[in-house]
Amino acid sequence: MSQSNENVPVDEQSAREVEEAGLRLGLVDTSDAEAFDKWIRADFRGFHGGAPSKEVLEESRGHLADRRTTAVYDDGIPSKEPVGTVNSWIAPLTVPGGARVNSWAISSVTVAPTHRRRGIARALLGGELRAAHRLGVPLAILTVSESVIYGRWGFGPATFVSEWRIDTKRVRWAGGPTVGRLSFTEPEEYRETGRAVLDAVMAARPGEIGLSAHLADRLIGPLKSSDNPERYRLVRYDSPTGEPEGFVSFGVKGHDDFVRHTVEVNHLAAATDEALTALWRFLLELDLVSEVRAFTRGVDEPLPALVSDVRGAAVASIEDHLWVRILDVPAALTARTYEHDGELVLDVTDDLGLAGGRYRLSVTDGVATVTETTDAADVTLPVASLGSVYLGHDFARALGVAGKIEGDVLALDRLFRTAVPPRLSTWF
Ligand SMILES: CC(C)(COP(=O)(O)OP(=O)(O)OC[C@H]1O[C@@H](n2cnc3c(N)ncnc32)[C@H](O)[C@@H]1OP(=O)(O)O)[C@@H](O)C(=O)NCCC(=O)NCCS
Repeated sequence: MSQSNENVPVDEQSAREVEEAGLRLGLVDTSDAEAFDKWIRADFRGFHGGAPSKEVLEESRGHLADRRTTAVYDDGIPSKEPVGTVNSWIAPLTVPGGARVNSWAISSVTVAPTHRRRGIARALLGGELRAAHRLGVPLAILTVSESVIYGRWGFGPATFVSEWRIDTKRVRWAGGPTVGRLSFTEPEEYRETGRAVLDAVMAARPGEIGLSAHLADRLIGPLKSSDNPERYRLVRYDSPTGEPEGFVSFGVKGHDDFVRHTVEVNHLAAATDEALTALWRFLLELDLVSEVRAFTRGVDEPLPALVSDVRGAAVASIEDHLWVRILDVPAALTARTYEHDGELVLDVTDDLGLAGGRYRLSVTDGVATVTETTDAADVTLPVASLGSVYLGHDFARALGVAGKIEGDVLALDRLFRTAVPPRLSTWF
Protein backbone atom coordinates (compact mmCIF):
# COMPACT_ATOMS: atom_id res chain seq x y z
CA MET A 1 0.00 0.00 0.00
CA SER A 2 1.23 3.44 -0.80
CA GLN A 3 1.41 5.92 2.02
CA SER A 4 1.46 9.66 1.82
CA ASN A 5 3.11 11.83 4.38
CA GLU A 6 6.00 13.91 3.26
CA ASN A 7 5.91 16.22 0.26
CA VAL A 8 2.31 17.30 0.60
CA PRO A 9 2.57 20.79 2.05
CA VAL A 10 -0.13 22.41 4.18
CA ASP A 11 -2.98 23.80 2.19
CA GLU A 12 -2.59 27.57 1.92
CA GLN A 13 -6.28 28.35 2.15
CA SER A 14 -6.57 26.29 5.36
CA ALA A 15 -3.52 27.98 6.81
CA ARG A 16 -5.09 31.38 6.10
CA GLU A 17 -8.43 30.40 7.63
CA VAL A 18 -6.73 29.13 10.76
CA GLU A 19 -4.59 32.24 11.01
CA GLU A 20 -7.66 34.46 10.74
CA ALA A 21 -8.95 32.65 13.83
CA GLY A 22 -5.73 33.58 15.67
CA LEU A 23 -4.32 30.05 15.40
CA ARG A 24 -1.54 28.30 13.49
CA LEU A 25 -1.64 25.31 11.12
CA GLY A 26 1.35 23.02 10.77
CA LEU A 27 2.43 19.57 9.67
CA VAL A 28 3.85 17.46 12.49
CA ASP A 29 7.27 15.89 12.02
CA THR A 30 6.39 12.38 13.15
CA SER A 31 10.06 11.57 13.82
CA ASP A 32 10.05 14.28 16.52
CA ALA A 33 8.80 12.19 19.45
CA GLU A 34 8.04 15.16 21.69
CA ALA A 35 5.93 17.01 19.12
CA PHE A 36 4.25 13.79 17.95
CA ASP A 37 3.40 12.74 21.52
CA LYS A 38 1.60 16.05 22.06
CA TRP A 39 -0.40 15.44 18.89
CA ILE A 40 -1.23 11.84 19.95
CA ARG A 41 -2.35 13.03 23.40
CA ALA A 42 -4.64 15.61 21.79
CA ASP A 43 -6.04 12.91 19.46
CA PHE A 44 -6.78 10.49 22.36
CA ARG A 45 -8.39 13.27 24.37
CA GLY A 46 -10.48 14.37 21.38
CA PHE A 47 -12.20 10.97 21.39
CA HIS A 48 -12.46 10.91 25.20
CA GLY A 49 -9.82 8.19 25.44
CA GLY A 50 -7.67 7.73 28.53
CA ALA A 51 -4.38 9.58 28.80
CA PRO A 52 -1.93 7.40 26.84
CA SER A 53 0.87 5.75 28.84
CA LYS A 54 4.49 5.87 27.64
CA GLU A 55 4.03 2.42 26.14
CA VAL A 56 0.89 3.44 24.28
CA LEU A 57 2.57 6.61 23.01
CA GLU A 58 5.48 4.58 21.72
CA GLU A 59 3.19 2.08 20.01
CA SER A 60 1.06 4.86 18.50
CA ARG A 61 4.13 6.68 17.19
CA GLY A 62 5.19 3.49 15.43
CA HIS A 63 1.75 2.91 13.97
CA LEU A 64 0.95 6.41 12.82
CA ALA A 65 4.35 7.69 11.68
CA ASP A 66 3.64 7.23 7.96
CA ARG A 67 0.50 9.32 7.90
CA ARG A 68 0.41 12.95 6.87
CA THR A 69 -0.14 14.48 10.27
CA THR A 70 -1.58 17.95 10.68
CA ALA A 71 -2.08 20.04 13.81
CA VAL A 72 -3.68 23.35 14.69
CA TYR A 73 -1.91 25.21 17.50
CA ASP A 74 -3.02 28.02 19.78
CA ASP A 75 0.36 29.52 20.61
CA GLY A 76 -1.21 31.32 23.57
CA ILE A 77 -1.88 28.16 25.59
CA PRO A 78 0.73 26.88 28.08
CA SER A 79 0.63 23.15 27.18
CA LYS A 80 1.61 23.73 23.52
CA GLU A 81 -0.56 20.74 22.65
CA PRO A 82 -2.53 20.95 19.40
CA VAL A 83 -6.11 22.17 19.60
CA GLY A 84 -6.94 20.47 16.32
CA THR A 85 -5.70 17.22 14.74
CA VAL A 86 -6.14 15.27 11.52
CA ASN A 87 -4.12 12.68 9.65
CA SER A 88 -4.38 11.18 6.19
CA TRP A 89 -2.82 8.59 3.91
CA ILE A 90 -3.52 6.93 0.62
CA ALA A 91 -5.39 3.64 1.01
CA PRO A 92 -6.53 1.29 -1.76
CA LEU A 93 -10.32 1.05 -1.74
CA THR A 94 -11.85 -2.02 -3.41
CA VAL A 95 -14.60 -1.00 -5.84
CA PRO A 96 -17.14 -3.11 -7.78
CA GLY A 97 -15.27 -5.25 -10.30
CA GLY A 98 -12.30 -5.65 -7.96
CA ALA A 99 -10.07 -2.68 -8.82
CA ARG A 100 -8.39 -1.04 -5.85
CA VAL A 101 -8.61 2.71 -6.17
CA ASN A 102 -6.22 5.01 -4.36
CA SER A 103 -8.31 6.95 -1.88
CA TRP A 104 -7.43 9.73 0.51
CA ALA A 105 -8.19 8.20 3.92
CA ILE A 106 -8.81 10.76 6.67
CA SER A 107 -8.71 9.98 10.38
CA SER A 108 -8.13 11.50 13.83
CA VAL A 109 -10.27 14.57 13.16
CA THR A 110 -10.46 16.21 16.58
CA VAL A 111 -10.86 19.72 17.90
CA ALA A 112 -10.25 20.46 21.59
CA PRO A 113 -13.55 21.16 23.37
CA THR A 114 -11.96 24.42 24.50
CA HIS A 115 -11.76 25.52 20.85
CA ARG A 116 -14.86 23.95 19.31
CA ARG A 117 -17.12 25.57 16.71
CA ARG A 118 -14.68 28.20 15.56
CA GLY A 119 -14.21 26.66 12.16
CA ILE A 120 -11.11 24.53 12.90
CA ALA A 121 -12.61 21.31 11.52
CA ARG A 122 -13.87 23.22 8.49
CA ALA A 123 -10.36 24.50 7.76
CA LEU A 124 -8.83 21.04 8.26
CA LEU A 125 -11.34 19.13 6.13
CA GLY A 126 -11.23 21.64 3.31
CA GLY A 127 -7.45 21.38 3.37
CA GLU A 128 -7.49 17.59 3.20
CA LEU A 129 -9.88 17.57 0.24
CA ARG A 130 -7.96 20.23 -1.67
CA ALA A 131 -4.64 18.42 -1.04
CA ALA A 132 -6.08 15.14 -2.33
CA HIS A 133 -7.68 16.86 -5.31
CA ARG A 134 -4.41 18.57 -6.24
CA LEU A 135 -2.67 15.21 -6.19
CA GLY A 136 -5.31 13.71 -8.48
CA VAL A 137 -6.63 11.24 -5.89
CA PRO A 138 -10.17 10.49 -7.09
CA LEU A 139 -11.86 9.77 -3.75
CA ALA A 140 -11.65 10.69 -0.10
CA ILE A 141 -12.95 8.27 2.53
CA LEU A 142 -13.52 8.20 6.26
CA THR A 143 -15.40 6.43 9.04
CA VAL A 144 -17.24 8.67 11.44
CA SER A 145 -17.97 9.15 15.13
CA GLU A 146 -21.21 10.98 14.34
CA SER A 147 -23.13 10.83 11.10
CA VAL A 148 -24.14 14.50 11.15
CA ILE A 149 -20.71 15.97 10.50
CA TYR A 150 -19.35 15.17 7.04
CA GLY A 151 -22.24 15.63 4.60
CA ARG A 152 -21.41 19.34 4.44
CA TRP A 153 -18.07 18.48 2.82
CA GLY A 154 -19.64 16.28 0.15
CA PHE A 155 -19.22 12.90 1.86
CA GLY A 156 -22.09 10.44 1.63
CA PRO A 157 -22.58 7.18 3.53
CA ALA A 158 -21.60 4.44 1.06
CA THR A 159 -21.49 1.27 3.16
CA PHE A 160 -23.56 0.22 6.14
CA VAL A 161 -22.74 -2.21 8.95
CA SER A 162 -24.76 -4.50 11.14
CA GLU A 163 -24.27 -5.30 14.82
CA TRP A 164 -25.46 -8.66 16.13
CA ARG A 165 -26.54 -10.12 19.46
CA ILE A 166 -26.85 -13.88 19.30
CA ASP A 167 -28.53 -15.80 22.09
CA THR A 168 -26.41 -18.91 21.92
CA LYS A 169 -28.50 -20.77 24.51
CA ARG A 170 -31.41 -20.40 22.09
CA VAL A 171 -29.98 -21.06 18.66
CA ARG A 172 -28.51 -24.23 17.26
CA TRP A 173 -26.23 -24.47 14.27
CA ALA A 174 -28.23 -24.87 11.05
CA GLY A 175 -25.53 -24.04 8.55
CA GLY A 176 -24.69 -27.54 7.36
CA PRO A 177 -21.42 -29.41 7.79
CA THR A 178 -18.31 -27.37 8.35
CA VAL A 179 -14.82 -28.35 7.22
CA GLY A 180 -11.22 -27.39 7.85
CA ARG A 181 -9.24 -27.05 11.07
CA LEU A 182 -9.61 -24.55 13.89
CA SER A 183 -6.89 -23.90 16.43
CA PHE A 184 -5.94 -21.31 19.01
CA THR A 185 -2.97 -19.15 18.18
CA GLU A 186 -1.25 -16.01 19.46
CA PRO A 187 -1.08 -12.65 17.66
CA GLU A 188 2.75 -12.67 17.67
CA GLU A 189 2.88 -16.07 16.01
CA TYR A 190 0.01 -15.46 13.56
CA ARG A 191 0.72 -11.84 12.57
CA GLU A 192 2.12 -12.32 9.05
CA THR A 193 -0.44 -14.98 8.19
CA GLY A 194 -3.25 -12.87 9.60
CA ARG A 195 -2.19 -9.85 7.58
CA ALA A 196 -2.21 -11.97 4.40
CA VAL A 197 -5.67 -13.32 5.20
CA LEU A 198 -6.93 -9.80 5.79
CA ASP A 199 -5.45 -8.62 2.52
CA ALA A 200 -7.31 -11.37 0.66
CA VAL A 201 -10.55 -10.45 2.41
CA MET A 202 -10.11 -6.72 1.80
CA ALA A 203 -9.27 -7.18 -1.88
CA ALA A 204 -12.35 -9.32 -2.49
CA ARG A 205 -15.14 -7.05 -1.33
CA PRO A 206 -16.08 -3.54 -2.54
CA GLY A 207 -15.92 -1.09 0.33
CA GLU A 208 -12.98 -2.73 2.09
CA ILE A 209 -9.64 -0.94 2.20
CA GLY A 210 -6.09 -2.25 2.10
CA LEU A 211 -4.86 -2.18 5.69
CA SER A 212 -1.62 -0.79 7.04
CA ALA A 213 0.21 -3.15 9.41
CA HIS A 214 -1.26 -1.18 12.32
CA LEU A 215 -4.86 -1.48 11.13
CA ALA A 216 -4.39 -5.18 10.45
CA ASP A 217 -2.73 -5.87 13.79
CA ARG A 218 -5.60 -4.23 15.65
CA LEU A 219 -7.93 -6.82 14.11
CA ILE A 220 -5.64 -9.77 14.80
CA GLY A 221 -5.10 -8.97 18.47
CA PRO A 222 -5.24 -6.27 21.10
CA LEU A 223 -3.12 -3.15 20.97
CA LYS A 224 -1.51 -1.72 24.09
CA SER A 225 -4.36 0.79 24.22
CA SER A 226 -7.09 -1.89 24.05
CA ASP A 227 -9.30 -2.54 27.07
CA ASN A 228 -8.59 -5.80 28.91
CA PRO A 229 -6.07 -7.19 26.40
CA GLU A 230 -5.62 -10.32 28.53
CA ARG A 231 -9.18 -11.39 27.70
CA TYR A 232 -8.55 -11.58 23.95
CA ARG A 233 -8.40 -14.96 22.23
CA LEU A 234 -7.38 -15.72 18.66
CA VAL A 235 -8.55 -18.75 16.67
CA ARG A 236 -7.34 -19.47 13.16
CA TYR A 237 -9.09 -21.38 10.41
CA ASP A 238 -7.11 -23.49 7.94
CA SER A 239 -8.76 -25.18 4.98
CA PRO A 240 -8.78 -28.98 4.57
CA THR A 241 -5.65 -28.58 2.42
CA GLY A 242 -3.96 -26.44 5.08
CA GLU A 243 -4.49 -22.97 3.55
CA PRO A 244 -4.97 -20.20 6.13
CA GLU A 245 -8.31 -18.65 5.17
CA GLY A 246 -9.69 -16.93 8.24
CA PHE A 247 -9.51 -16.09 11.92
CA VAL A 248 -11.59 -14.73 14.73
CA SER A 249 -10.26 -12.60 17.56
CA PHE A 250 -12.60 -12.15 20.48
CA GLY A 251 -12.89 -11.23 24.13
CA VAL A 252 -14.80 -13.12 26.81
CA LYS A 253 -16.61 -11.30 29.61
CA GLY A 254 -17.55 -13.07 32.81
CA HIS A 255 -20.99 -13.17 34.45
CA ASP A 256 -22.19 -14.01 37.97
CA ASP A 257 -23.71 -17.11 36.44
CA PHE A 258 -20.70 -19.03 35.15
CA VAL A 259 -22.57 -20.54 32.20
CA ARG A 260 -23.48 -17.10 30.88
CA HIS A 261 -20.27 -15.53 29.66
CA THR A 262 -20.52 -12.99 26.84
CA VAL A 263 -18.26 -13.14 23.80
CA GLU A 264 -17.44 -9.90 22.00
CA VAL A 265 -16.00 -10.47 18.57
CA ASN A 266 -13.12 -8.11 17.89
CA HIS A 267 -12.87 -9.25 14.30
CA LEU A 268 -13.92 -12.20 12.17
CA ALA A 269 -12.06 -12.47 8.86
CA ALA A 270 -13.08 -15.10 6.34
CA ALA A 271 -11.66 -15.33 2.85
CA THR A 272 -13.99 -18.23 1.95
CA ASP A 273 -17.51 -19.39 2.86
CA GLU A 274 -15.93 -22.48 4.47
CA ALA A 275 -13.92 -20.24 6.79
CA LEU A 276 -16.96 -18.09 7.54
CA THR A 277 -19.21 -21.01 8.49
CA ALA A 278 -16.54 -22.80 10.53
CA LEU A 279 -15.76 -19.66 12.53
CA TRP A 280 -19.39 -18.74 13.15
CA ARG A 281 -20.13 -22.30 14.22
CA PHE A 282 -17.21 -22.19 16.63
CA LEU A 283 -18.55 -18.98 18.21
CA LEU A 284 -22.16 -20.14 18.42
CA GLU A 285 -21.25 -23.46 20.06
CA LEU A 286 -18.90 -22.14 22.74
CA ASP A 287 -19.66 -23.70 26.12
CA LEU A 288 -20.30 -21.47 29.15
CA VAL A 289 -21.39 -18.65 26.85
CA SER A 290 -24.91 -17.29 26.46
CA GLU A 291 -24.39 -14.33 24.14
CA VAL A 292 -22.14 -13.54 21.20
CA ARG A 293 -21.89 -9.93 20.08
CA ALA A 294 -20.45 -9.03 16.73
CA PHE A 295 -19.93 -5.59 15.24
CA THR A 296 -19.02 -4.08 11.89
CA ARG A 297 -20.47 -6.97 9.90
CA GLY A 298 -21.94 -6.54 6.43
CA VAL A 299 -25.61 -5.86 5.83
CA ASP A 300 -25.74 -9.29 4.16
CA GLU A 301 -24.23 -11.29 7.03
CA PRO A 302 -25.70 -14.79 6.51
CA LEU A 303 -26.40 -15.47 10.21
CA PRO A 304 -30.21 -15.79 9.84
CA ALA A 305 -29.61 -18.80 7.58
CA LEU A 306 -26.97 -20.31 9.84
CA VAL A 307 -29.09 -20.65 12.99
CA SER A 308 -32.09 -22.81 13.87
CA ASP A 309 -34.05 -19.86 15.29
CA VAL A 310 -33.76 -16.69 13.24
CA ARG A 311 -34.93 -14.46 16.09
CA GLY A 312 -32.20 -15.81 18.32
CA ALA A 313 -29.68 -13.98 16.15
CA ALA A 314 -30.88 -10.41 16.24
CA VAL A 315 -29.57 -7.37 14.43
CA ALA A 316 -28.96 -4.85 17.21
CA SER A 317 -28.32 -2.01 14.79
CA ILE A 318 -27.61 -1.06 11.21
CA GLU A 319 -25.48 2.03 10.82
CA ASP A 320 -23.75 4.10 8.19
CA HIS A 321 -20.07 3.23 8.14
CA LEU A 322 -17.76 4.19 5.25
CA TRP A 323 -18.33 7.70 3.89
CA VAL A 324 -17.16 8.44 0.37
CA ARG A 325 -16.34 11.85 -1.12
CA ILE A 326 -15.83 11.81 -4.86
CA LEU A 327 -13.15 14.24 -6.02
CA ASP A 328 -12.86 13.23 -9.67
CA VAL A 329 -16.10 11.96 -11.23
CA PRO A 330 -14.68 10.45 -14.47
CA ALA A 331 -11.81 8.71 -12.67
CA ALA A 332 -14.08 7.31 -9.97
CA LEU A 333 -16.85 6.14 -12.29
CA THR A 334 -14.51 4.45 -14.77
CA ALA A 335 -12.58 2.66 -12.00
CA ARG A 336 -15.53 0.45 -11.08
CA THR A 337 -17.50 -1.94 -13.25
CA TYR A 338 -21.29 -2.23 -13.60
CA GLU A 339 -23.62 -5.23 -13.63
CA HIS A 340 -25.93 -3.73 -16.28
CA ASP A 341 -25.23 -1.72 -19.37
CA GLY A 342 -26.84 1.68 -19.87
CA GLU A 343 -26.31 5.36 -20.38
CA LEU A 344 -27.10 8.35 -18.19
CA VAL A 345 -26.27 12.03 -18.13
CA LEU A 346 -25.45 12.97 -14.55
CA ASP A 347 -25.46 16.56 -13.35
CA VAL A 348 -23.26 16.52 -10.25
CA THR A 349 -23.34 19.54 -7.97
CA ASP A 350 -20.50 20.28 -5.58
CA ASP A 351 -20.58 23.22 -3.17
CA LEU A 352 -16.80 23.03 -2.77
CA GLY A 353 -16.22 23.33 -6.52
CA LEU A 354 -14.01 20.24 -6.74
CA ALA A 355 -15.96 17.63 -8.68
CA GLY A 356 -19.11 19.22 -10.05
CA GLY A 357 -20.09 19.06 -13.73
CA ARG A 358 -22.31 17.31 -16.23
CA TYR A 359 -21.11 13.92 -17.37
CA ARG A 360 -22.34 11.29 -19.77
CA LEU A 361 -21.80 7.83 -18.27
CA SER A 362 -21.98 5.06 -20.88
CA VAL A 363 -21.64 1.46 -19.79
CA THR A 364 -20.98 -1.31 -22.32
CA ASP A 365 -20.23 -4.86 -21.20
CA GLY A 366 -19.93 -3.51 -17.68
CA VAL A 367 -17.17 -1.05 -18.55
CA ALA A 368 -17.79 2.70 -18.28
CA THR A 369 -16.70 5.65 -20.36
CA VAL A 370 -17.35 9.10 -18.96
CA THR A 371 -17.30 12.33 -20.95
CA GLU A 372 -18.25 15.88 -20.10
CA THR A 373 -21.40 17.01 -21.87
CA THR A 374 -23.83 19.90 -22.14
CA ASP A 375 -26.78 17.60 -22.96
CA ALA A 376 -29.85 17.61 -20.72
CA ALA A 377 -29.34 15.69 -17.49
CA ASP A 378 -31.19 12.45 -16.74
CA VAL A 379 -30.25 12.66 -13.09
CA THR A 380 -29.21 15.61 -10.91
CA LEU A 381 -27.53 14.89 -7.63
CA PRO A 382 -25.09 16.42 -5.14
CA VAL A 383 -21.66 14.84 -4.99
CA ALA A 384 -22.53 13.35 -1.55
CA SER A 385 -25.35 11.31 -3.11
CA LEU A 386 -23.05 10.09 -5.86
CA GLY A 387 -20.62 8.97 -3.12
CA SER A 388 -23.48 7.11 -1.43
CA VAL A 389 -24.37 5.05 -4.50
CA TYR A 390 -20.83 4.70 -5.84
CA LEU A 391 -19.92 1.37 -4.22
CA GLY A 392 -23.21 -0.34 -5.12
CA HIS A 393 -25.18 -0.04 -1.89
CA ASP A 394 -28.98 -0.04 -2.26
CA PHE A 395 -29.47 3.64 -1.39
CA ALA A 396 -30.47 5.46 -4.58
CA ARG A 397 -34.21 4.98 -4.17
CA ALA A 398 -34.15 6.25 -0.58
CA LEU A 399 -32.14 9.29 -1.62
CA GLY A 400 -34.66 9.84 -4.42
CA VAL A 401 -37.56 9.77 -1.96
CA ALA A 402 -35.68 12.31 0.18
CA GLY A 403 -35.18 14.61 -2.80
CA LYS A 404 -31.42 14.09 -2.70
CA ILE A 405 -31.40 12.56 -6.18
CA GLU A 406 -33.65 14.05 -8.84
CA GLY A 407 -34.64 12.67 -12.24
CA ASP A 408 -34.53 9.04 -13.32
CA VAL A 409 -33.65 7.55 -9.96
CA LEU A 410 -34.56 4.00 -11.00
CA ALA A 411 -32.21 4.11 -13.97
CA LEU A 412 -29.42 5.32 -11.70
CA ASP A 413 -30.25 2.58 -9.21
CA ARG A 414 -30.17 -0.15 -11.88
CA LEU A 415 -26.82 1.03 -13.14
CA PHE A 416 -25.00 1.52 -9.82
CA ARG A 417 -26.42 -1.11 -7.44
CA THR A 418 -24.58 -4.41 -7.10
CA ALA A 419 -25.97 -7.82 -6.19
CA VAL A 420 -23.46 -8.16 -3.35
CA PRO A 421 -23.61 -5.04 -1.17
CA PRO A 422 -20.36 -3.27 -0.36
CA ARG A 423 -18.94 -3.67 3.14
CA LEU A 424 -16.18 -2.19 5.24
CA SER A 425 -15.47 -4.48 8.19
CA THR A 426 -13.16 -2.22 10.17
CA TRP A 427 -12.76 1.34 11.44
CA PHE A 428 -9.98 3.67 10.54
C1 LIG B 1 -16.43 17.10 15.20
C2 LIG B 1 -15.40 18.19 15.54
C3 LIG B 1 -14.06 17.79 14.95
C4 LIG B 1 -15.89 19.51 14.93
O1 LIG B 1 -14.89 20.49 15.11
P1 LIG B 1 -15.21 22.06 15.14
O2 LIG B 1 -13.95 22.77 14.91
O3 LIG B 1 -16.01 22.38 16.34
O4 LIG B 1 -16.15 22.23 13.85
P2 LIG B 1 -16.33 23.57 12.99
O5 LIG B 1 -16.41 24.74 13.92
O6 LIG B 1 -15.31 23.66 11.93
O7 LIG B 1 -17.73 23.29 12.35
C5 LIG B 1 -17.96 23.25 10.97
C6 LIG B 1 -19.44 22.97 10.76
O8 LIG B 1 -19.74 21.64 11.20
C7 LIG B 1 -20.77 21.68 12.20
N1 LIG B 1 -20.43 20.65 13.16
C8 LIG B 1 -19.21 20.36 13.64
N2 LIG B 1 -19.28 19.35 14.49
C9 LIG B 1 -20.56 18.96 14.53
C10 LIG B 1 -21.23 17.95 15.24
N3 LIG B 1 -20.61 17.14 16.08
N4 LIG B 1 -22.56 17.84 15.04
C11 LIG B 1 -23.21 18.67 14.19
N5 LIG B 1 -22.60 19.65 13.50
C12 LIG B 1 -21.30 19.78 13.69
C13 LIG B 1 -20.69 23.07 12.77
O9 LIG B 1 -21.90 23.43 13.39
C14 LIG B 1 -20.38 23.88 11.55
O10 LIG B 1 -21.54 23.98 10.76
P3 LIG B 1 -21.90 25.28 9.96
O11 LIG B 1 -20.72 25.62 9.11
O12 LIG B 1 -23.11 24.90 9.20
O13 LIG B 1 -22.13 26.32 11.01
C15 LIG B 1 -15.27 18.36 17.07
O14 LIG B 1 -16.52 18.63 17.62
C16 LIG B 1 -14.69 17.15 17.77
O15 LIG B 1 -13.48 17.04 17.93
N6 LIG B 1 -15.54 16.20 18.23
C17 LIG B 1 -15.06 15.02 18.94
C18 LIG B 1 -14.24 14.09 18.05
C19 LIG B 1 -15.00 13.66 16.84
O16 LIG B 1 -16.14 13.25 16.92
N7 LIG B 1 -14.37 13.78 15.68
C20 LIG B 1 -14.90 13.37 14.41
C21 LIG B 1 -14.24 12.08 14.08
S1 LIG B 1 -14.93 11.26 12.76
